Amino acid sequence: MYKIIDGKKVASEIRKEIAEEVLKIKKEGKKVPHLAAILVGTNGSSESYVANKIKDCEEVGFKSTVIRFRDDISEKVLLEKITELNADQDVDGFIVQLPLPEHISENKVIEAIDPAKDADGFHPVNIGRMVIGLTGYLPATPYGITELIKRYGIETAGRSCVVIGRSNIVGRPVSILLSQKGMDATVTVVHSRTKDIKEIISQADIIIAALGSPGFVKAEMVKNGAVVFDVGATRIVSKDTKSGFKLVGDVDFESVAPRCSYITPVPGGVGPMTRVSLLRNTLIAAKRD
Ligand code: GUN
Repeated sequence: MYKIIDGKKVASEIRKEIAEEVLKIKKEGKKVPHLAAILVGTNGSSESYVANKIKDCEEVGFKSTVIRFRDDISEKVLLEKITELNADQDVDGFIVQLPLPEHISENKVIEAIDPAKDADGFHPVNIGRMVIGLTGYLPATPYGITELIKRYGIETAGRSCVVIGRSNIVGRPVSILLSQKGMDATVTVVHSRTKDIKEIISQADIIIAALGSPGFVKAEMVKNGAVVFDVGATRIVSKDTKSGFKLVGDVDFESVAPRCSYITPVPGGVGPMTRVSLLRNTLIAAKRD
């Protein structure tokens, strides 16, 4: 029988740990951590992601600020706001919610963030530090997955891990973390141009599905006893939920779960851990000064 990796529960435990630290900070008369989020436009997914991030901040006792811009904002004005936040002594860390409108370069925006305030861990300096194993801000989802692996005691040393997808924010960084000393997995990254992709996935002890294609991973691609992390969170219209939307993963859960030793559900698996990682990075940022 497979076991569910309950990201919702673990994330709630970590929020409690962070809330205790905030209480300690307050008792010592120090400033509480402050996270700011820049939101451009009115993309529904981005709106709900940012709303959840703010809710998480409130739960642990962080201060939070949302800065909103219309989607016709110029790149220059956005970059000026980033310069202002970089200099703002009250803001410990901040994020710019992605995606951005097409006329704005995401790379330019990410590079403009002071690496010391980069709560998403997306800046090339922080990615570079992660690659060579230095401490710093880890990107949210890769941190969330490795934390679940640790807290569930899942063996990674010498095991084969297939990461599906090579995005800068999930696939590529998680493949690096899993191959590092301490995790010691043998990692293969597969993507849209990979030959025999199903065959490769079917040999994996650990599968990380992060391609953004609902239900892509099917039972026949999964070895018996595999551990499966589903990063997919495609938002589709649904009559069954209050919000009118539901999240669908990259794994066909019904058929895949019976073959697994462990599997993350969607929702309630990787997603809540991604959110908690932002709190962790903000706490680290606040402690730096
Ligand atoms: N868009 C989707 N995921 C993320 C994330 O983790 N951070 C930011 N800033 N934007 C996102």
